[in-house]
Amino acid sequence: MKNLLFFITAYLCGSFPTGVVIGKTFYNIDIREHGSKNMGGTNAGRVLGKKAGFVVSFIDVIKVFLPVLIAKQYLSMEAAAFVGICALLGHCYPIFAKFKGGKGVSSFFGIIFALDFLLGIVLLVIWKILKHATNYVSVASMLSCFIITLIFFYKYKNVKLLIVLLALSLFIVYLHRSNIKRLLNGNENKVNPNR
Ligand code: G3P
Repeated sequence: MKNLLFFITAYLCGSFPTGVVIGKTFYNIDIREHGSKNMGGTNAGRVLGKKAGFVVSFIDVIKVFLPVLIAKQYLSMEAAAFVGICALLGHCYPIFAKFKGGKGVSSFFGIIFALDFLLGIVLLVIWKILKHATNYVSVASMLSCFIITLIFFYKYKNVKLLIVLLALSLFIVYLHRSNIKRLLNGNENKVNPNR
């Protein structure tokens, strides 16, 4: 019963459509109609500007980080990770936005930060390096999820957590299928369009 309450609350927290709310409230723009049409921080940055992108990404991480962090105090590490999955599913299929949500990257960051804050920093650094090296946020996002999953396993040797993080990384690749199509066609959005 306690677990179920955590799972439902986490799903509802994840469901908060940050990018849509910030866009509509402060800019009178629905970011789902512009750029990549995604409601995540990257597209918020692209459509609304850097500051909005940062705020959306930050809130999107926090809405998953907090439920997992709190769950960690009461449940096992594996159950806390499952709370993270519920929040991530809320972000990707939000009940408050007709079940059309983001691609789960900020949620994945929130899960890692809550499970191991230091590895969250490592993930952020890897993502930033890959973003700079590849010039594509989508590539950096997908690759960094897999890399931190391996680092997580190297540190904890927890097979259940490995399976959960690997499944989430594959799910995130699935959610990036429109980006993958654009990458193959050579028209994916670049971080620096002049490179
Ligand atoms: O976090 C999502 C990012 O990896 C890609 O975003 O807007 O370029 O599809 P976007």
